[in-house]
Amino acid sequence: MKNSFHLVHHLVLPSIPPIIATMNKIIITIDGWSSCGKSTLAKQLSRELGYVYIDSGAMYRAITLYFLRNHIDWTASEEVMNALQNIRLEFVSNHKTGQTEMHLNGENVEYVIRDLVVAEKVSDIAAIKDVRTFAVAQQQEMGTKKGIVMDGRDIGTVVFPNAALKIFMTADNGIRVQRRFKELYEKNPNITIDEVKNNLELRDYIDSHREVSPLRQADDAIVLDNTSLSEKDQLGMALGWAKAKINPTENQ
Ligand code: DC
Repeated sequence: MKNSFHLVHHLVLPSIPPIIATMNKIIITIDGWSSCGKSTLAKQLSRELGYVYIDSGAMYRAITLYFLRNHIDWTASEEVMNALQNIRLEFVSNHKTGQTEMHLNGENVEYVIRDLVVAEKVSDIAAIKDVRTFAVAQQQEMGTKKGIVMDGRDIGTVVFPNAALKIFMTADNGIRVQRRFKELYEKNPNITIDEVKNNLELRDYIDSHREVSPLRQADDAIVLDNTSLSEKDQLGMALGWAKAKINPTENQ
């Protein structure tokens, strides 16, 4: 399979305190259930540390979008392998927002991959062994220089089992449904709370019961339950853990 992944990030980091910029870089993994706020924390943490944020779920979503658009029969292994050869994924930095966005074969798909149509199929696609091999190899390549925060389901267990800091996020189910509903409702006012709830429950079930790399907490992960934590508080906790790993002597 040709190497079809390019991480394009032109991140400008002038505001990083020199002390952090020169510190030992580590890999931080954030795994957990759907809609726990993993990406919110990962984005904020990476900004504070001057690290690169990688949304591994966006890769599975973009692959799903490609399969749907091209009517790929994902139960046929040869068809899947051929389709993967034609998929080029890139994280491209948006200078206006300062965020990275997922591009699929040169097209910005950051918004369309968040649709319920994609969400309804992504767990099935992410359970396919060849799809995971394809995505995980690219994720591991992105970690070679360290200095990254990657969120997903198997990042601390499979992609980076030796990561210095692993966070496992969880939150009350009702809160997670409300959060996802609010997010999707802004884009699609026809969406119902039941649709969102059913999709979350189904995805959690498939993600945690699949044969290949199921969602599970790494033994050495720190659990972060943010049911009643503000974004500011959870960021403060995570930053404390990160700094203790980046510069252990200072925290003794
Ligand atoms: O984080 P998310 O909701 O955007 O992820 C979309 C789907 O991709 C999710 O249902 C599970 C799957 N996924 C995965 O299997 N492994 C990852 N590392 C990240 C996401």
